[in-house]
Amino acid sequence: MKKNIRAKATQSSTKWVGRNANDKFSKLAKQNHFRSRAAYKLDDINKKFKILKGAKFILDLGAAPGSWLQYISRFSKANSLLIGVDLKEIEAIKNTKIIEGDFTSSEVWGKLDEMLSGNKLNLICSDMAPNTSGTRSMNHINIMSLAESVFLFSENFLDKKGSLVIKLFEGNKTKEFFNKLRLHFKEVHFFKPEASYKDSSEIFIIAIHKI
Ligand SMILES: C[S@@+](CC[C@H](N)C(=O)[O-])C[C@H]1O[C@@H](n2cnc3c(N)ncnc32)[C@H](O)[C@@H]1O
Repeated sequence: MKKNIRAKATQSSTKWVGRNANDKFSKLAKQNHFRSRAAYKLDDINKKFKILKGAKFILDLGAAPGSWLQYISRFSKANSLLIGVDLKEIEAIKNTKIIEGDFTSSEVWGKLDEMLSGNKLNLICSDMAPNTSGTRSMNHINIMSLAESVFLFSENFLDKKGSLVIKLFEGNKTKEFFNKLRLHFKEVHFFKPEASYKDSSEIFIIAIHKI
């Protein structure tokens, strides 16, 4: 029985590694020197919703290994302030500041407050994901708790007219979160980028123009 489970796990990780190495977005990421194929999720979001247009103060949460930050740094003006946060170490990226730590901790909020020195953010992106297990409902609950802290942070640190991009795993709290954002933003959308695997419950919520 145990052997069977292990064999299945190996099969599925082999399938994942296989498709990850061979798919169109992994190839593009390699060609364009992005650290991960995730850059193409942000590219798709940006092409559709123009989130980077005019944004000068930008925060990227769950930034390791750094492909979103690379993308943001390539498409932002030279005088922008770009900050990435992750639990893991991130190799330096041109024109960006990095905080290694847990976004949900008061230390990290304090550091962000200091770095912003009174400025407000125009864009907060979160690709943060908890360690996932085979239990979809647990993955959903854990990512919703990260999403709630992003929203809480945005209440103080996101400028009027600013935008939020937050990764979620779909589940029974998704709609409630969407409805809450609708009270605070002019437009709120769900979006599944082409680079997001079809069989994953990953979905992004895009909230534009804080009221
Ligand atoms: C899917 S990866 C992000 C990929 C990244 N957007 C890129 O383009 O390279 C998710 C990241 O979220 C980070 N993460 C999860 N929980 C976090 C937390 N509480 N604080 C900061 N980072 C967190 C993980 O360490 C992981 O690196």
